[in-house]
Formats: sequence, C-alpha cells, structure tokens
Amino acid sequence: MKKITTTILLLAYFISFSQQKKIDQKVDILLKQMTLKEKIGQLNQYTGNNQATGPITINPNKEVEIKDGLIGSMLNVIGAKYTRQYQELAMQSRLKIPLLFGQDVIHGFKTTFPIPLAEAASWDMEAIGLSARIAATEASACGIHWTFAPMVDIARDPRWGRVMEGAGEDTFLGSKIAYARVKGFQAKLGDVNSVMACVKHFVGYGAVVGGRDYNSVDMSDRMLWETYLPPFKSALDAGAATFMNSFNDFNGVPATGNKYLQRELLKGKWNFQGFVVSDWGSIGEMVNHGFVKDNKEAALVAITAGSDMDMESNAYRFNLAQLVEEGKVDIVLIDDAVKRILRKKFELGLFDDPFKYSNLKREEKELNDLNYRKAAREVAAKCIVLLKNENNVLPLSKGIKKIAFIGPLVKEHKQNMGFWAVELPEINYDKQVVSQWEGLQNKVGKNTQLLYAKGCEVQGNDKSGFEEAVAVANQADVVILSIGERWNMTGEAKSRSNIHIPGVQEELVKAIQATGKPVVVLINGGRPLIFNDTADSVPAILYTWWLGSEAGNAIADVLFGDYNPSGKLPMTFPREEGQLPIYYNHFNTGRPAPNETATNYVSAYIDLKNSPKFPFGYGLSYTTFNYSDMKLSKNKMSNSDTIEVSFNLTNQGKVAGDEVVQLYLRDKVGTVVRPIKELKGFEKIKLNAGETKVVKFVIDNQMLSFYNEKLEFESESGDFDLMIGASSEDIRLKATFELIK
Ligand code: BGC
Repeated sequence: MKKITTTILLLAYFISFSQQKKIDQKVDILLKQMTLKEKIGQLNQYTGNNQATGPITINPNKEVEIKDGLIGSMLNVIGAKYTRQYQELAMQSRLKIPLLFGQDVIHGFKTTFPIPLAEAASWDMEAIGLSARIAATEASACGIHWTFAPMVDIARDPRWGRVMEGAGEDTFLGSKIAYARVKGFQAKLGDVNSVMACVKHFVGYGAVVGGRDYNSVDMSDRMLWETYLPPFKSALDAGAATFMNSFNDFNGVPATGNKYLQRELLKGKWNFQGFVVSDWGSIGEMVNHGFVKDNKEAALVAITAGSDMDMESNAYRFNLAQLVEEGKVDIVLIDDAVKRILRKKFELGLFDDPFKYSNLKREEKELNDLNYRKAAREVAAKCIVLLKNENNVLPLSKGIKKIAFIGPLVKEHKQNMGFWAVELPEINYDKQVVSQWEGLQNKVGKNTQLLYAKGCEVQGNDKSGFEEAVAVANQADVVILSIGERWNMTGEAKSRSNIHIPGVQEELVKAIQATGKPVVVLINGGRPLIFNDTADSVPAILYTWWLGSEAGNAIADVLFGDYNPSGKLPMTFPREEGQLPIYYNHFNTGRPAPNETATNYVSAYIDLKNSPKFPFGYGLSYTTFNYSDMKLSKNKMSNSDTIEVSFNLTNQGKVAGDEVVQLYLRDKVGTVVRPIKELKGFEKIKLNAGETKVVKFVIDNQMLSFYNEKLEFESESGDFDLMIGASSEDIRLKATFELIK
C-alpha cells in the first residue's frame, strides 16, 4: 500500500513538474515579445466601477490602456457581462494577454456566508472549507479569477475593526483555518470553479498599535515567527497562489517596501513561486510614511523589495520605465515580476480561453443554486456561540404562544451580511437576506403569535421606543432581544476606541428584564463587544456575529434547538477596553495574580478583575459533556518519539451535540519564557445523548518546539503540562510529561 502511494505521489509530482516546465517555456517565449511598456502594464491593477474598496484614483483612460496592453489586472468588476467586456478589450491588445480579475470574496459571493471571525467560532474546518468552495464557485462563474482572501492576520485587539476578517487571536487555530480556506478557494487551480487565493496582509497588520487601523507595528522577531507568521506559512503550504503585502510599517519599514519580508523571507527562504500584490495604494502611501520622497522612489523601493503588482498607486505605471532607463531598476526584477504574473494566467488556462470563467450560463446556474443557501444556513448555525443559558431558558419550545421579538436589528436584512460582503448590482438584498424576524416567522407554527417592537436605534440616546417595547414584552411568554453593532461598525477603517454595545441598547435590555419575562439576548457584531450589564443579568445569550444570507433561519434553528449550538469563541472577550490587548496565551510574568481579584503587588489592574469576561475557546451547548479517564501512553518522551493521549468524552444530556475539545500545553521552563498555555490540538466531536467516545491526540516534538533565543525552532528538555479543556479556562483533565533529549 505504502509503495503504491509513494508511486502515485511521485507520478503526480512528475506531471506537475513537467506541466510547470511547459508553462515556464511559454512564459519565456511571451516575455521575449514584450516591450518594456507592456511588461510594466502587467504589473498594474485598477479598480472597475463596482463598490470601490479604497480611495479611487480615477483613470478615465482605462479602456484605451487595456487595449494598449498597459493593464494586467482589475478588481471590483462584478458580473460575467462586465468581466467579458473588459476581457474583450484586452483581446484587442497587440499580444492578447488576458486580464486577471480580482475581488474581495471574503465570506461568500452572491450567497453571503458568516463573517470570517464567526466562521472561526465554528472550529469546523470542513464548514470553513465549504464556505470558501461555494464562494469560489459563484465568483468564478462571474469571471473572477482571484480572491483577496484569506486574511490570516492574528488579532488580539478587538478595537481593530478588521478582526472580523480573520480567524481571531490564536496562531494554531488561525493556521488550520488559513489552510482550510486556501484549499476551499483554490481546490484545483485551472478548474473553472476555482479561484486563486491571496493570503494577506504580509505581515503584522493585526498588531497595529492601539488597534487603530493602518497604524504602525513594532514587534520582536520571536513574536513575528511564533505568533504572526505561522498562518501565512500554513496558507503557503496549502498552495496559496498569491500574497498581498500590508499597509503598516513593520519595525519602521513599510511592509510594502520591506525587502526582508518579501524577497528574502517569502520568495527566498519560503521559496514562494507566486506573485505579491500591493495593498490598495500601499506603494504610494510609503510617501506618507516618510519612507520615500515621492511616487518614483516608492516604485523603486517596492519593486526592489519584491512587490510585484501595484494596486491603485499608479506608481509603477508612471515611473518604472524611467527607473529602468536610468539604470536604477534592473530589468531582471521587472522580468521576474512579470513572469510570476504570466505564469498564473497560464495556470488558470486564460491563454487557452480568456473567457473561460466569464460564462453567462454558468453564472445564471451558480448564482441560483439553492444548495448554496442550504449550506450557508448550516454553516451559520455552527458559528453561533451560546454564552449563557441559566435555567435552560433555551432552547425555546415550539409550543410557546406569544414571543416578543424586540430590538433595532430584528427586521434588518442587509445588516446581517456584515462588512466585506459582495454586493451584486442587480440584487435586492431585502429579498436575498433572511432577516431575524423572517427566520423566526419561518420557524414557528400557526399557534405562536409573534410581537415586535424596535425599542431604540443601534446608536443614539433616544429612549422614546422603550414604552412600546415594554408593553409588547408584557404581553409575551418569552422575549428575544436583538442588539449589537451595526454591520459597518467593524471592518476596514472601522476601529473603535469604545467597544461597548452602542447607544441605549443595554438600557433597553434592562427595561425589558424588569418585566420579569424570560429574556434571550442575541448579540450581533463583528468583534468581541463589551456588554457587562447584559452578561451579568440576562439568563440566555447567543453571540450571533453577522451570519450572512441565511442569518434569520440559522438563528431560529438554534433558538428552537433544531441545531444545538457548538461554537466556541476564537477571541478573548474583555471586561473593559483598558485590558486590551488581551489574549489567553500570555506569559506568566514574575508576579502573576494568584486569583481574579488580587491586586497587591501582582500583575493586575487595581480597578478590574484579572480575567476576561469570556475566555478564548468558550461556548456552551444545550447538553453537557463529561471528560474522564485520561491516559498517556507514557510520561517521558524523546524528540523522535510521540506520546498518545486518550480520554473519554461523554454526552451527559438528553440531546445530541458537538463539543470542541481543546488540547493546551505549557512548557514549564524555557531558555525564553513560554506562554501559560498554548493551543496545540482540537477536535470537534459529535455525540448522541448518553454516548461516549474515546478521543485521541498525539504529542510530537513539533508541538513542543518554539523559537529560541537564536530563533531556531527547537524543543527543550523538561516538564510540560498537558491540559484538556472545554475552553482555555475550563480545563477538565491535566497531566505532566517530560521531554528528555
Ligand atoms: C484592503 C485589502 C483589500 C483591498 C482591495 C484594501 O483597502 O486592505 O484587504 O483586499 O483593499 O479591496
């Protein structure tokens, strides 16, 4: 068996090697025919007329320039009709080099899936891969070849609006998700329903100072290697075709002009063969950084650093030719960038058929496939996190006579799509997106009466709607309240210094609570929000993020127990902004706080508990799980060895459910200090009521290794704590083992 597998692998390697060689030959032949102007043309990317995602540089000449072969790629062109139109112009150019169409397909295309941070809360790699696959299938039918996703920036500060785009705070979970997303988008590049992934933002963007967007990043090499780089490497290992660099300066050097990061690390040490696109205008923005004096110097620095394609800076277009002529930029650099881009165009099959992906018939079919809606509903339900459920208020019984559904977000449609949703020009989103109100209506039978009151707006001080809301609540058997942020309060350029639930919404909750009715609160948001009063007083809370096209149905599925919630938080939820940044895998310090309230000369805030409001990995279910009988195959290992850990997981309740079991390790003594715990494994296990399964993990040397003082990735002899838990704080089983080298 092993022999056959090796032969198949060798064969596959040989085929792909010889295909690559053929493509390289074609690229070389084409390159020889290209003028310098045409070469530079391939390095330019412009936005089309849909939904601009940055400050537009108006280029009225786009169409003529495409015909002249001076544009290699476009973004924000949506629909097969429009991608075809632009491609037809490219086919009138001298060398007929097809355009590449890129788009931010971040969480779905026509069918909107949950925002990425919500998907991370599913801890379900199959669901995450499926969401990316469907997005790729829909987008590619409209002529999109390339998505600017996944965003794999580790984010530990929820003030940063872009936390909604990533997988949260943890490197291990983030790396698994990065892998799943790339595989989902790309499947098999060249197939008509695959798109190229673009891993972004290389690198450090998630660590902007103070969580303020576009801000500086200053971090140690060890932090870079240990925490921020692994998801990028994982995406590369999954075969990611392209990378995007980043707006921020990294230790004083803008990432876009950073030679170490792009040329030496990514293209050198990691041997990345694809191309790097700049972020929107990030080449030109190096002038604002004070790193270069003008756009010309920006072009010189960026191309030298390894930034291959210029998105919307106009820096390459106007300056590269002159820089080559002046001998400041070696043509070898230009040729390398052009080759990287052309190679992808060949791999996608665009030279054989430039209209391969822009297919009106396929577009019609793919954009109306109801199976995708079904998948979106299932994925959305998996993302919801049950934060609290006192007295088993949830799930609601289908026999309830009167339900009051109150809050400013209840009847919203588009809000549920969240930031970075694609908007197709011809779609009416009030019809496309299932509101929370409609979801509930779809769920309950004729015998249940639904009552509604808005109560208040998301923002502002107006409480004039409270009276009506309280009156409506008084008539009901149960009240569901839907509160939170507006969809566009997170996302790019949406950093907030105050991440409490805005306006008077929590006061509305209080007023409704005073009626004495059982209350369930749904919290909508793109980041961890702060809602201490609600968290402390309301019996049942579901964190529903932004769940996409099927939000309403998915929420109703969970409210009534047709889906038993299984989501777990991918980010720590703070008590107050003053704790930020906050993350579970911190160092111990020399004076760790012995308990939540200790303040006496220990590492703590004197005005706040020394713990988060909700920890990383946390989430409840309508059932409970028991962890027992942990066994280690041995308690000493060498670095060529492994230890098998097994334990029993039992569903103790009356309904089936999924539990995400989490394995954490702590290296007790290191030549550099180690975090108090680090996630090193997890598994999502489905169990019927009363069922027990044996869960197994294998500990190997890789899991014990870290970047030491010399930045070598190695393990060190000594004792390790092994913790198996239902969250980073809810540790159920513990053991110690020793590594002997
Ligand atoms: C964002 C990128 C995005 C690009 C294109 C930029 O502002 O930072 O993540 O891919 O715009 O829309």
